[in-house]
Amino acid sequence: MEKKNSKLKIILPVVLAVIVIAGGAAWYLTRTETKLGRAGYDKAQIADIKQLFSEEEQKALTEVPAQSGIIEIAKSDRYQKEHFADYLKGLGEGENVTDLLHNYDPWVITLRATDGYTEENLDLYLYHRQDGTAEDAAYTVNYINMSLLYSKSPDYDGKRFEDYEKYRAKRPDKTPEEIVAHVEHAKDYANEKYFIDEYFEKYEAYRAKNPDKSLEEVVRAVNAGIDKPFYTEMVNTDTSKGYLMIVNKYNKLPEGYSPKLESLSGYGNGSMEPTAAAAFRKMVDAGKEAGVSLRSLSPYRSHSLQTWQYQFWVDAHGQEMADRESARPGSSEHETGLAVDINTAVEESHFERTPEYAWLIKNCWKYGFILRYLPDSEYITGYVYEPWHYRYVGVEHAEKIMKLGITYEEYYAYYINNPDYPETGGPVE
Ligand code: DAL
Ligand code: ZN
Repeated sequence: MEKKNSKLKIILPVVLAVIVIAGGAAWYLTRTETKLGRAGYDKAQIADIKQLFSEEEQKALTEVPAQSGIIEIAKSDRYQKEHFADYLKGLGEGENVTDLLHNYDPWVITLRATDGYTEENLDLYLYHRQDGTAEDAAYTVNYINMSLLYSKSPDYDGKRFEDYEKYRAKRPDKTPEEIVAHVEHAKDYANEKYFIDEYFEKYEAYRAKNPDKSLEEVVRAVNAGIDKPFYTEMVNTDTSKGYLMIVNKYNKLPEGYSPKLESLSGYGNGSMEPTAAAAFRKMVDAGKEAGVSLRSLSPYRSHSLQTWQYQFWVDAHGQEMADRESARPGSSEHETGLAVDINTAVEESHFERTPEYAWLIKNCWKYGFILRYLPDSEYITGYVYEPWHYRYVGVEHAEKIMKLGITYEEYYAYYINNPDYPETGGPVE
């Protein structure tokens, strides 16, 4: 008995030791950490894995070769837990971390389903991310896409994105650079009564070529259609407009034009178109009653007389000066029978200082006449101030023109050649 006991005393600890060692080994070998190590993760990665993944996920990680990317993915604030298996599978198939994050990012999924989405702008869309509805995605996509285009303009100001978009909605035909230029420069014109949005590019082109001009001058010139050199693009004027026809350095009379005429006998020299002649006589009579003395010095001129007259000024002053004082044949209002020089036709006599002039300026419209070549308007009319030259346009229009104080070029552009002009954004009176 003693012997048996002593044998047991030796075997038991050995068996126990074997059990403990085998158990320990088994425990060690089946431990997740060990398996993860065997899968290829290092200690630090294993520590991360223990923290980042559920037991089930950890188990899944032990079953495939180590993918350090999965740790990177799980640490990203764009990690989508429910897609753990998809990430792991994707990594196994060679996809990269960034792509996988994008693929399962709900915001990216919404973006990708959006019109106008482009993969190359994805980082920018993400930078401006605002997880939300399809509408938000559409805004972001458009915001980035359009900002990139607008920003090519040297005038681009990111703060004015909404203004650019507003203008783009109105004018989808414009390029992004034109839109930026418009929005940034149109505000310069805010005080211009006659500013027309549609003419904006023309204003800017004219302004660039004429840096000495004020904005008011730029607007008036372009509105009047004179933003090209005089006499370079002549067209036949629309004579069907009758006494409203325009004749200037852009609009000439058709060859052989010859109006009906009536003598102004008793009221000065020459003749005028009958309606204008009657109006002139009435005006002279009214002037007489008011104590001013008016007479026709030079009314209708035939084409050959205008030819002679223009040449006379060319010979006397040279062509450049002559062009500022006298119309080239075919381009003179005097050939229409609707214009008349009253009392004088030379600057030196300073007609503008006379009571006759003062009376005319106040009253000429009542008889259908306008002062045609205004002071400071040579860049539009093409002629120096002619206080003596009056043009018949009928009472209705004469009243408006004299009250507005604008050139006939402008008035014609606003109200005669474009009768629905006020509706299209033109001058508001
Ligand atoms: N003096 C004006 C412009 C003309 O010759 O018609
Ligand atoms: Zn004249």
